[in-house]
Amino acid sequence: MLKNKKVLLCVTGGIAVFKAAALTSKLFQEGAEVKVMMTESAQQFVTPLTFQTLARNAVYVDTFEEKDPEKIAHIDLADWADVILIAPATANIIGKVANGIADDMISTTILAATAPVLIAPAMNVHMYQHPAVVKNMRTVASFGYQFIEPGEGLLACGYVGKGRLAEPEEIIAGLHAFFTPKEQLFKNKRMLVTAGPTVEAVDPVRYFTNRSSGKMGYAIAETAAALGAEVTLISGPTSLLTPSNVTPIHVTSAQEMYEQVIRAYSHQDVVIKAAAVADYRPKHYSNDKVKKKPDGWSIELERTKDILAELGKQKQQQILVGFAAESTNIEEYALQKLEKKNLDLIVANSIVQEGAGFKSDTNIVTILHRNGKKKELPLLTKQEVAFEILKEVHSCLKENKQR
Ligand code: CTP
Repeated sequence: MLKNKKVLLCVTGGIAVFKAAALTSKLFQEGAEVKVMMTESAQQFVTPLTFQTLARNAVYVDTFEEKDPEKIAHIDLADWADVILIAPATANIIGKVANGIADDMISTTILAATAPVLIAPAMNVHMYQHPAVVKNMRTVASFGYQFIEPGEGLLACGYVGKGRLAEPEEIIAGLHAFFTPKEQLFKNKRMLVTAGPTVEAVDPVRYFTNRSSGKMGYAIAETAAALGAEVTLISGPTSLLTPSNVTPIHVTSAQEMYEQVIRAYSHQDVVIKAAAVADYRPKHYSNDKVKKKPDGWSIELERTKDILAELGKQKQQQILVGFAAESTNIEEYALQKLEKKNLDLIVANSIVQEGAGFKSDTNIVTILHRNGKKKELPLLTKQEVAFEILKEVHSCLKENKQR
């Protein structure tokens, strides 16, 4: 898929530069034409010679080192690229891009480019969460630049958390998705996607929530928008960035999600409910912090509204898709939910299987149709799962039209 694609790899300084070397080699093996630019700090970690050898192309490090007098290198490279990939992207380069600063080869070339830009950040977890970095990433996302999210785990700085450069395979998968011809499968279709957990407050300090990261729902929203849908994403609290061309509505509790979903429902063609909505909330909310006492504490819970069941009752033209996260009798329970909530499709997954479930970047799902059709999928990235779900949704829309 990357054969003859021109990838301009921008390598900025951080320990993850060594992974960019492996990435360069993989890109070359995939048949991509790779040109590499490095910042001063990137060169502190790995020499340009390594990249030059792996990419079989000269490496660019200095705006004023014009190798060919006929051309202005940064403009020429900007025009040459089919895609610009910044990996690893430091907080510094993200800040420069967000603010239009052009003081080195990479930032100058990016400003001069009209090619799409993919950014794979890598930094310390506290830097990644710093409001300035979060703000810059949101600004950059608003330019239509896409992010390949960093992974979680032990970071080189010794901290455990989010900030590790995505693995070369994940970055390659991101490029594949990027170069997949995007048929406008959902042109003129309105799609509502819910994602993330809900948070149910006990008092101003305490709350109940669940382990949903929102990754599955965000991947669906992003892919649907890329396929031409007009997407509204109603999301509980997550650390994810709103994908480009998606309208976000942020909510906290199950009740807020219910209200926003019902408000938007009537004019949707498709609703995909990937959110992990709380089934219970504290019956009484205390405006003041509840002081601890010597004994235990029982909190009475009451049921929240089942949003999906309500959508099933009110269903007209909409294709309705639910999720069933189960630990046993997966298909049986999923089919019961499909029937009970009047769905068209249900995506069933095991939360106990390796590589599946809440925090993971991958998932193993079975998609069950109302008409008995079933699609069992292997371990895939959440982006790939999103695409498979959307293909099934598309076939439901086609069937609906024929009726
Ligand atoms: N859902 C919803 N509103 C709720 C609860 C769940 O819309 N209050 C949706 C979820 O977004 C998901 C599907 O319903 O699409 C999950 O079905 P559900 O029966 O709630 O699954 P569980 O909560 O796992 O149910 P159980 O505990 O009975 O297995």
